[in-house]
Amino acid sequence: MNIVILAAGQGQRMRSALPKVMQILAGKPMLQYVLETALTVSPKTKPVVVIGHGAPLVSQFIAHFAEQNKATSKLSANISTVLQAQQKGTGHALLQALPKLNLSEPTLVLYGDVPLISPVTLRRLIKLADGVAKQDSALALLTQKMADSKGYGRIVRNSADEVIAIIEEKDASPQQQAIQEINTGMMVLPSQHLKRWLKALHVSNAQGEYYLTDVIAMAVKDGVPIRTTQTINAWESIGVNDRAQLAALERITQREIASNLLANGVSLADPARLDVRGKLSCGQDVFIDIGCLFEGNVSLAAGVKVGPNCVLRNSQVGKRVVLQAFSHLDGATISDDCIIGPYARLRPGANLANDVHIGNFVEVKNSQLGSHSKANHLAYVGDAVVGKRVNIGAGTITCNYDGINKHQTIIEDDVFIGSDTQLVAPVRVGRGATLGAGTTLTKDAPANQLTVSRAKQVSVAWQRPEKKMLVKKKLSSKGKK
Ligand code: UD1
Ligand code: CA
Repeated sequence: MNIVILAAGQGQRMRSALPKVMQILAGKPMLQYVLETALTVSPKTKPVVVIGHGAPLVSQFIAHFAEQNKATSKLSANISTVLQAQQKGTGHALLQALPKLNLSEPTLVLYGDVPLISPVTLRRLIKLADGVAKQDSALALLTQKMADSKGYGRIVRNSADEVIAIIEEKDASPQQQAIQEINTGMMVLPSQHLKRWLKALHVSNAQGEYYLTDVIAMAVKDGVPIRTTQTINAWESIGVNDRAQLAALERITQREIASNLLANGVSLADPARLDVRGKLSCGQDVFIDIGCLFEGNVSLAAGVKVGPNCVLRNSQVGKRVVLQAFSHLDGATISDDCIIGPYARLRPGANLANDVHIGNFVEVKNSQLGSHSKANHLAYVGDAVVGKRVNIGAGTITCNYDGINKHQTIIEDDVFIGSDTQLVAPVRVGRGATLGAGTTLTKDAPANQLTVSRAKQVSVAWQRPEKKMLVKKKLSSKGKK
């Protein structure tokens, strides 16, 4: 079979510099959903994407997607593109793809701006088109009953309930506009007629475009059977033409993601207050409080508790870890039983072993912390290797940057670092060493000793000055008559 994805339109109603099919839905461009679905439905088919508006950006994305796909999945990474230099309508778009199709096989048409269509629905549609022999396959149309059919093409049926045409809203009479059955855009076409049908399209309609939908009436004339089926879920057929529809579809997508998480045993304090823009995998009995955002690839192992308003991006979290409110993780790897936050910030390369505690206003970047180590308050740990059972006092800072280069700090096992210490990297603190509060460490600290750098404490007799009394000037009576 052939698959053509129409993705050349500008999407004027979005009022955006970005081509419409590149608009982001739950962290991914809309076109990516359609590509993934196409490859799932028919892994052996090389889909043809019709690109046009913003073609360089769209084709760059397709190449990147194909490359990534090759590396991470079994799906075919073969995707071809064809340029529709001027966007003259959906029929004209399909015509551009014609040279790339095998006309002895049916053609499935998908729309880059209808992202949530499911493989299950499409398989049903493909099956519906099957004829006794390949040559007499039918035209299968995916339609949908919508209470508010505004903006969609309407399905026109005769008194025998047979489909006879699709009328675009702008061309429809008031009676036709009242029709609730809409064209989702997706259809399976008998390809042997395509050349003739598409060449016969004209632009005498309200939008002055070559409408693909006009092939329906041609099929009727040619005696090609037209069969219709509906989507499994009504939201699968929602098209995105403006930002309000994109926002509505975002909520639907998030609701679906939340339902899947719940079905897989994840507890959500409120399924409506969670956003996943990427892939979130969860072990058993994970709890996620309100207002959390997950981006990229995030995994939470069994028993993890995520407090309210946390942001996690591309991070792995071990078993029973507690992330307290307002913690921010980006590119972090956290082993079992750690306690993080509230208000902790773990940046790329933060790698915590078991039972590490990272408290409020502590930032960790490109650093390893050994098991049972703690940095509970107000600290910056950057480019450091920290051993086991280390205590990092409040206000400790690794001074890793000299203005030009980054340097490493090494803190060995069982070190105790007093509050408000600056470790001027590169520097090493030996095993079991203690650093006195307020130390500015510029040289290595030997193991098992107390190292302290601070001005000697002195006390002198001292009289605190007293406040001078101001003499108030009397206002002269002259000025006020
Ligand atoms: C289209 C259908 C309408 C249907 C609706 C479903 C036509 C004439 N109308 O209307 O019946 O109810 O989709 O969502 O087909 N495109 C191109 N080249 C073009 C024009 C469009 O590739 O020259 C692509 C767009 O990028 C988009 C898709 O085709 O992905 C649909 O185009 P759009 O302009 O959004 O059509 P609608 O008005 O939504
Ligand atoms: Ca559309």
